[in-house]
Amino acid sequence: LVDIWTPPVLTGKRVLITAGATFEAIDPVRGITNISSGQMGMALARACRAAGANVSLVYGQMQTALVAGLAYTEQAISADAMLAAVQRLLPGQDVFISVAAVADYKVRNRSEQKLKKQAGQSVPVIELTENADILATVAARADAPFCVGFAAESEHVLEHARAKRLKKGVPLLVANEVSQAMGKASNQVVLLDDEQETALPQMSKDDTATAIVVRLAQLLARL
Ligand code: CTP
Ligand code: CA
Repeated sequence: LVDIWTPPVLTGKRVLITAGATFEAIDPVRGITNISSGQMGMALARACRAAGANVSLVYGQMQTALVAGLAYTEQAISADAMLAAVQRLLPGQDVFISVAAVADYKVRNRSEQKLKKQAGQSVPVIELTENADILATVAARADAPFCVGFAAESEHVLEHARAKRLKKGVPLLVANEVSQAMGKASNQVVLLDDEQETALPQMSKDDTATAIVVRLAQLLARL
């Protein structure tokens, strides 16, 4: 048995994943979110777990069930809450996979009370202010784990993804076209790293996640 058994590729690794969409409140009942379903994040959580990793998951809004059997799960709805959870959980992690569709902006003039329609008054104006970039913040830390990012693009996917990978300083970036990816059961991605660009076929998010984990394990083995 010893001769034929090879341990799963992420055995002994601690992996922190963000998934789903964030939600930025406008008032107590309304907010700004996006069409991320959480499926790709859940597929990666499953694939990392199947590969033997200890998986912690921070998730926003999801339209899919949470993966069972993870070491730790926590919901963090806003980008600020997600950043705080990630920074708290980061020490001791070997890998950070940033799958969440994090809002780039939050509401500056959020109302503590429900906004009321007022006859004859002008429509409310929502002012935005920029959120911190969770992935870039983590990647810039002196004690950064191996970082895997995503790039959601609607055009010029490869050009934008190449620039994004270098700007954020992440060794592995998964590029996808939003109409092929967000809210869909399948995905079609290109993996970009220091050595190569790997175009994967359109396939289920579970198969895509498995391929990402295989490449991640190869890159980790070279460190
Ligand atoms: N990301 C993040 N925090 C943010 C915004 C993005 O952690 N505030 C992460 C995402 O989880 C993803 C990567 O950064 O892994 C790229 O997100 P994306 O929206 O594609 O790129 P941005 O850098 O936000 O640029 P833009 O939306 O302008 O294309
Ligand atoms: Ca963005």
